[in-house]
Amino acid sequence: MSAPAQPLRLGIAGLGTVGIGVVKIVQRHAEMLTARTGRPVTITAVSARDRTKNRDADLSAYAWETDPVALATRDDVDVFVELMGGHEGTAKDATIAALNAGKDVVTANKALLAHHGQELAELAEGAGRVIRYEAAVAGGIPVIKSLTEGLAGNAIRRVMGVMNGTCNYILTRMETAGLPYDTVFEEARQLGYLEADPNLDVGGIDAGHKLSILAAIAFGTKVSFDNVVLEGIGCISIDDIRRAADMGYKIKLLGVAQMTGRGLEQRMTPCLVPAASPLGQLQGGTNMVVIEGDSVGQIVLRGAGAGEGPTASAVMGDVLDIARGLRLPTFGQPATSLADPIPAAVSAPAPFYLRLQLVDKPGALAKIASALGDAGVSISRMRQYGHADTTAPVLIVTHKTTRDAIDVAIAALPGTGVVDGAPVALRIEEV
Ligand SMILES: NC(=O)c1ccc[n+]([C@@H]2O[C@H](COP(=O)([O-])OP(=O)(O)OC[C@H]3O[C@@H](n4cnc5c(N)ncnc54)[C@H](OP(=O)(O)O)[C@@H]3O)[C@@H](O)[C@H]2O)c1
Repeated sequence: MSAPAQPLRLGIAGLGTVGIGVVKIVQRHAEMLTARTGRPVTITAVSARDRTKNRDADLSAYAWETDPVALATRDDVDVFVELMGGHEGTAKDATIAALNAGKDVVTANKALLAHHGQELAELAEGAGRVIRYEAAVAGGIPVIKSLTEGLAGNAIRRVMGVMNGTCNYILTRMETAGLPYDTVFEEARQLGYLEADPNLDVGGIDAGHKLSILAAIAFGTKVSFDNVVLEGIGCISIDDIRRAADMGYKIKLLGVAQMTGRGLEQRMTPCLVPAASPLGQLQGGTNMVVIEGDSVGQIVLRGAGAGEGPTASAVMGDVLDIARGLRLPTFGQPATSLADPIPAAVSAPAPFYLRLQLVDKPGALAKIASALGDAGVSISRMRQYGHADTTAPVLIVTHKTTRDAIDVAIAALPGTGVVDGAPVALRIEEV
């Protein structure tokens, strides 16, 4: 008779939304997990800040560690599961300690990977360990696995995504309820949808972290979050949403990463997308990632980007890979072979949506067209709305141009004497 298979022993640091979700799956599906991996998956020790907190799961069978670093280095832990969050301090220290102690690591922490991915990947791979982080990008959607495994035979052309459910909730709620940004922002806060620092969500930082991780895998470059162009959704008004809809578009906080002759582009900015496209139809808190490969063409992945079940599902996918003996380099190729990214100084040309408030004077439209023309921006479509007072909203869709040319045009508009207030310019992404 052969010896029973060795269990894979987890040490879980962080018993919040995701951590407790993982505990529940391990407890609920013990038999299934053993059947699928050929060995039991067990939890030996856990850690959080407050031991007295009621946590909606029975933790009595597990050792409690006050210090996550001590948990990460225990002899009876094979995999350190980091579910605390934060890119400095305890999460980073404990991850490094775990790798140095010969443990594999599973984490849901996009900030940690976006800021320290290269350093951690080199450390892990030098020590013969793995770091897995499916839950860090788009929650329950298996996008890391898709890029590193299923699509590994493709040269990736572009990766796009709506990867912050809170922003998509705010934008779709503004549209469906006809409510202004500030009201919906407050609603989202009341519902607990916003991070403690809301700028992580609405400023595009959280989604930018995710995009930088995807870009590293897709293009074989070192993670470079600092090169992600970030613009939040705070500038989007209900007027923009309505006017964009009139012209057949939806506004999304869209991440786009692509490698062009100009270098690596990484943008997390509000964009217009065709209303009939999969991205345009995405409602509420759902996430979507679109990947374009040279052989596969375009694939669209859609699902829950957050929440206990979806995020724990992704963590467990990583744990099961480790239990089965699947070991991949952190970013799909050895960390030492990842290239230093050359950030594109200019983004790929695209049509732009321009909204401006035009003073009601004869010849005003001609002055605008001339200012845009001087900046090399040509107009594809223009629509003027009726006015209640001395100004009227005008919408312009340009032919393909660069953000630089648009910025030059916008800088020239006040000099025309016919524009009131600051124009809004949003890229129209061809998806
Ligand atoms: N929630 C989601 O839907 C989601 C989705 C994708 C990725 N993630 C990522 O998953 C990670 C965890 O998120 P979460 O939503 O589960 O967070 P959470 O509910 O706030 O839970 C965080 C847990 O970490 C513990 N913790 C924090 N700092 C600690 C420290 N210094 N020492 C020990 N324990 C510490 C907390 O302890 P106490 O309970 O005692 O305070 C808590 O149990 C984050 O990296 C997050 O970005 C979350």
